[in-house]
Amino acid sequence: MCGIVAYIGLKPTKELLIEGLKRLEYRGYDSAGIAIINGGIHVARTIGRVSGLEEKVANDAAFEGTVGIAHTRWATHGKPSEENAHPHSDDASAGHGIKVVHNGIIENYATLKTYLKDKGHTFKSDTDTEVLAHLIGEMYDGDLEKAVQTALKEVSGAYAIAVICEKEPDVLVVARKGSPLIVGVGSDEYVVASDSSAIVAHTTQAFHLDDETVARLTRDSFRTTTIDNVELTPEIRELEFSLEQIELGEFEHFMLKEIYEQPLTLSTCMKGRVDATSGQVILGGVAQFADQLAKGKRILLLGQGTALHAAMIGEYLMESLAGIPAEVEYASEFRYRNPIVEEGTIAVAISQSGETADTLAAVQEAKRRGALSLGAVNVVGSTIARETDAGIYLRVGPEIGVASTKAFIGQVAVLTMLAGYIGRRRHLAKEEMSNLLSHLESMPRHIETVLGESEHILNVTKGVVKHDNWLFLGRGLNYPVALEGALKLKEISYIHAEGMPAAEMKHGPIALIDEGMPVVFIATRGSQYEKVIGNIEEVNSRGGHVIAVATEGDTNITAHCKDVIYVPDVPEALQPLITVVPLQLLAYHAAVLRGKDVDKPRNLAKSVTVE
Ligand code: M6R
Repeated sequence: MCGIVAYIGLKPTKELLIEGLKRLEYRGYDSAGIAIINGGIHVARTIGRVSGLEEKVANDAAFEGTVGIAHTRWATHGKPSEENAHPHSDDASAGHGIKVVHNGIIENYATLKTYLKDKGHTFKSDTDTEVLAHLIGEMYDGDLEKAVQTALKEVSGAYAIAVICEKEPDVLVVARKGSPLIVGVGSDEYVVASDSSAIVAHTTQAFHLDDETVARLTRDSFRTTTIDNVELTPEIRELEFSLEQIELGEFEHFMLKEIYEQPLTLSTCMKGRVDATSGQVILGGVAQFADQLAKGKRILLLGQGTALHAAMIGEYLMESLAGIPAEVEYASEFRYRNPIVEEGTIAVAISQSGETADTLAAVQEAKRRGALSLGAVNVVGSTIARETDAGIYLRVGPEIGVASTKAFIGQVAVLTMLAGYIGRRRHLAKEEMSNLLSHLESMPRHIETVLGESEHILNVTKGVVKHDNWLFLGRGLNYPVALEGALKLKEISYIHAEGMPAAEMKHGPIALIDEGMPVVFIATRGSQYEKVIGNIEEVNSRGGHVIAVATEGDTNITAHCKDVIYVPDVPEALQPLITVVPLQLLAYHAAVLRGKDVDKPRNLAKSVTVE
């Protein structure tokens, strides 16, 4: 939710900031802005994409400085407009020339605004960020770092901010609480950004700011403190990120690139963790809690969106492989209902970004109530990764497309491994696990096979893309896959789609089915195959256009559906890892055929760092 990038150094800042914003644009793209110190501070803001901002400042010599801040926005307070775009300024009459970019939400902004208005401040936007800029200005007495520290003590909510001031042209102050912020450490330069993708082209040395910490940066020095001015020593680490991972390469969209990366990312996710011969899973990240995991009484899986769908698959696997009662909760619901967390509860937060506000708050709440907290997170060093007791990284590399694909595969794989890890410490037999793990090891190859069906899936999509309402149905482990297929389709193509258990259809949604309505069934061979065929026939009787995702070699299915997409025959427990792939491609092709912006769907942002 919003991307910020800031720079202090010796290089021309404008190009660096614009390039950084383009990399962060997946976080929000309704307006963008930049402020650069060059004599005074020069500001440009625009509605819409970063490319518009780039054009606006392209030939303007005023923006030729070497210190600056920039922002790409996903609106929370105030509609997308130039006035509401960042950077925001402190009160003009004070003459400090303070500019602020911000990611997060200042929850008590209304109270602060009233306080500042009483002191004579006048505001130009509807944003909470402008209130923060004024507050910093109000506290300013010649020391920007101190003003930021003092102002932040009055603030509740989440923030990652970068601040510059006309009176201190060689200083950049940044701070964070709740929203991510990484400081890249170069030679005589610092690049600060919401994530590593905007930093890695300039330096791979970086440190994460902890909650409620402030960093004061000059070209050749930095100082980090708490907001109470207690000095800290952050640990500078190598970023695990390469430029190639965040470039499109031969692909037209990041989503497609990431779908095609899945065989490789799944292999990387499993590397060194799966030993089919011994039937063991090796998970160094949770090893210190192995006994506690084995004695666990209940597993609570928390997530939102795609991560929640992975969690639902995890629920089945935890019960069947680990033999522990498991439940899935929308993180956003869990935290607000006074949940009962019994002794022996293991709470697993599932998140690609590791920054989703609801998931973070839910796992913190579970931990506060005594649960052992684990993270199944992709972004290394993210807030959830740091706030949980232990965790297992997804290791699928940066996911840039707003629609989550390879992270889902990583999440399901991690939960499968975790279920096996716990199961083997309880009752799960070596032979059973060895067999499952050897199949798991061959899943990248099977995903490759499904990717080979892309042309066929495109043709299937062409036949139904004109329809505005679709259903996705599955049973057992493929029910969450149906939910995921529907989510993918609606978020990038804006086609209305619902996913549900196939049996639920006849309890109401069947009324929606009319001539030609696309109904996608995940109808792979397994314990509920016959029942799914029955559900397919119920749709056929009402004129629906059935697309079945079926097991290779199942010729029987062709008599029951208009289109069939075959996937390899794999054990039922592993089917979600391949049945989701055709649904990702179906959604992708539908969005492209409808002319939609696949990587930047309307109203969305990659990570939702507000509640
Ligand atoms: O970063 P997270 O995995 O915590 O994000 C959770 C959801 O916001 C995310 O999965 C969202 O639903 C995706 N846009 C789905 O494609």
